Amino acid sequence: MAMGIFFLILSFALLALRSCADPANFGYHGRYGPKKWGSLSPNFSACAKGKHQSPVDLRKENIVYSKELKPLERHYHSSNASLVHNGFNIGVHFDGKVGDLRTDGEVFYLKQMHWHSPSEHRFNGKQMEAELHLVHQNEEGSFAVVSVLYKLGNPDTIISKMEKKLVELAKESSAGYVGAHVDLGSFNVRHVKGRGQSYYRYMGSLTTPPCKENVTWTILGELRSISLQQLHLLKAPLSPQFKNNARPIQPLDGRKILKYSGQA
Ligand SMILES: *[C@@H]1O[C@H](CO)[C@@H](O)[C@H](O)[C@H]1NC(C)=O
Ligand SMILES: *[C@@H]1O[C@H](CO)[C@@H](O)[C@H](O)[C@H]1NC(C)=O
Ligand SMILES: *[C@@H]1O[C@H](CO)[C@@H](O)[C@H](O)[C@H]1NC(C)=O
Repeated sequence: MAMGIFFLILSFALLALRSCADPANFGYHGRYGPKKWGSLSPNFSACAKGKHQSPVDLRKENIVYSKELKPLERHYHSSNASLVHNGFNIGVHFDGKVGDLRTDGEVFYLKQMHWHSPSEHRFNGKQMEAELHLVHQNEEGSFAVVSVLYKLGNPDTIISKMEKKLVELAKESSAGYVGAHVDLGSFNVRHVKGRGQSYYRYMGSLTTPPCKENVTWTILGELRSISLQQLHLLKAPLSPQFKNNARPIQPLDGRKILKYSGQA
């Protein structure tokens, strides 16, 4: 009897701990993992039923060189920003307007950026160390994401500037406090831009629930590099369920990936 009550209390305690540590209502393994996302909420049904999901593997045989694609048109500037613990990843939120991306006559405004590690997209089956998503949205609410993949190597100059802040964020988050944020001061998105000399374009979805589709993806051809220490810093604030926060590859289902190359 006493034993039963003990276990009852223990399971309530664990339940409380769980909901405190993982406030996002999905995860990356076990019963909250990517295979289960579609059944976790009616709002997440696209995660299971969608036919144009992300991420995808950028394989040679599915890539078509496009003459219609234009050089990437992006106008970014600086704004005060903060480093934010989103629960399922670490990101940067901007105080004001920080610029836009223009494609096919549409204007998408940069809203936020965040990292996944390891990478979500792959090149010819190869998963990289990390991936940065710059999330843009137009007036109608459609998304366009610009993505940069990282290989292991020299420290990334963007992350180098926020290493101390990442340590602070990990301290603030140690009590499982999600939504923690640390001021970054003035942050210039131009430093994140990359040259965009070549890129891949396809239509996909958000890579986290609700997995909403009709997202215009732009994956830069040029990789950035990140050091092992920086990878650890990016993962440190996250709870175990989210330390590896890459959704598995989704079927292309007949989609083609377009490639733009300025040099070709
Ligand atoms: C689904 O999304 C709507 C609108 O965002 C929200 O009001 C509702 O609570 C969500 N339902 C569930 C089951 O999460
Ligand atoms: C950025 O933050 C600083 C310090 O809080 C403030 O003085 C400055 O006005 C802010 N700049 C903008 C563009 O909001
Ligand atoms: C899909 O996104 C494009 C922007 O890329 C937008 O013009 C179009 O209206 C969207 N379609 C739907 C059904 O939301």
